[in-house]
Amino acid sequence: MKIVLLGAPGAGKGTQAKNISERLSIPHISTGDIFRANIKGNTPLGLKAKEYMDKGQLVPDELTVEIVKDRLANPDCEKGFVLDGFPRTIPQAEYLDSVLGEMSIELDATLLISVKDEDIIERMSGRRTCPNCGASYHVAFNPTKVEGICDICKTPVIQRADDAAETVLNRLETYHKQTQPLISYYEKAGKLKTAEGADAVEETTSRVFEALGL
Ligand code: AP5
Ligand code: MG
Repeated sequence: MKIVLLGAPGAGKGTQAKNISERLSIPHISTGDIFRANIKGNTPLGLKAKEYMDKGQLVPDELTVEIVKDRLANPDCEKGFVLDGFPRTIPQAEYLDSVLGEMSIELDATLLISVKDEDIIERMSGRRTCPNCGASYHVAFNPTKVEGICDICKTPVIQRADDAAETVLNRLETYHKQTQPLISYYEKAGKLKTAEGADAVEETTSRVFEALGL
């Protein structure tokens, strides 16, 4: 299946993308994770992306779209993929449509994980992520088995630089202005499915699987 996940920062896209990716054995492609890997590696792209990410703004489309095009050309995407955090603007969505058109493939679904802003703010402050494998945890809602250590690769987990309270508010504002219009874009295309994402991780996973017919 070819799936796009939509949702506010902290809605649970990364958490659910991992579940979908495991269930369907398809790659989880997160533009945020790709940028963070570039920041960690001090690449020119990472240096540019960091300027925007630290302020809670979107990285410009021209820096983002080529990365996704290259990633989708990888043979592991032939069976499908779950895109997490891309597209995030109407031009990115149009670009994705044209890239997929060139590859003669069609999206199966765009799934919106819907969570209110108040719940988001609480989630971000407790989030911990693995700098090595990208797994996402929450100190209260989704803790690591051993405190502070990633369940999967045993690396110490960290707090993301853009999870500072003020940056979270900027990210939410950016989402409402620039990404929310994608909901009606995909609705009009007949691709939109929605899963309520405010409840516990397991319940949300069931809703996500149900919405996708898994
Ligand atoms: P990105 O990395 O995509 O961040 P985001 O969209 O802000 O979303 P998050 O990763 O913060 O949240 P999530 O929805 O994945 O939630 P998670 O599962 O972790 O992007 C970062 C930045 O990169 C952007 O601000 C931008 O600058 C740039 N960027 C990326 N893509 C771009 C693009 N296409 N164009 C331009 N710029 C781009 O969950 C959050 C927390 O809640 C975790 O602690 C988790 O354990 C917990 N949790 C999850 N589900 C539940 C639940 N049901 N109940 C309780 N807790 C839960
Ligand atoms: Mg994420």
